[in-house]
Amino acid sequence: MEKTFLMVKPDGVQRQLIGAIVHRFEEKGFKLVGAKFMQISRSLAEQHYAEHQGKPFFEDLVQFITSGPVFAMVWEGRDVIRLARKIMGATNPLEAAPGTIRSDYSSFMSRNLIHGSDSPESAEREIHLFFNSSEIIEYKKAI
Ligand code: CMP
Repeated sequence: MEKTFLMVKPDGVQRQLIGAIVHRFEEKGFKLVGAKFMQISRSLAEQHYAEHQGKPFFEDLVQFITSGPVFAMVWEGRDVIRLARKIMGATNPLEAAPGTIRSDYSSFMSRNLIHGSDSPESAEREIHLFFNSSEIIEYKKAI
C-alpha cells in the first residue's frame, strides 16, 4: 500500500494545529503508521530541502524548519500521496482551494503549516530520511 511523508511544520505546532491537521487525514480514512515529535537539525533540514538549494528562499526555509519542533508522520492508503496534497491545498495559501488545510489555516507561503511528499520518489526518500524501518508500524485497520 502507498505511503507518504507528512510533517506539521513549526508554525502548525506553535498554533496548536497538530490535532486539527491529523484529524483531516484520519477522517479521510488514511492509516497513521509512523509519528515523531522532533527537533530538526540543520543537516537534516538541508537534506530534506536539497531540491531548493540555491533558491533565494533556501536559507529562510532551513532557518524556519529548524526554529522549533515539528510533528513528522507517515501515512498509508490508496493514492495517499496525491490525495494528501489535495487535503493540504496548494503551496501558496492564496491559491489553495477553500476547505483545504492551507486555505483554512494559513495566509502566506513560508508559513503554510504542513509539508507533504510530492511524488512516490520523494515519499520514499523523505520517509527514510526521517524514520527507521522499526519506527514504521504495520498493523491492520479494522475499517
Ligand atoms: P514545502 O511543501 O515544505 O516545500 C518547500 C517550501 O518552501 C514550501 O513548502 C514553502 O513553504 C516554501 N516556498 C516555496 N516557494 C517559496 C517562495 N517562492 N518563497 C518562500 N517560500 C517558498
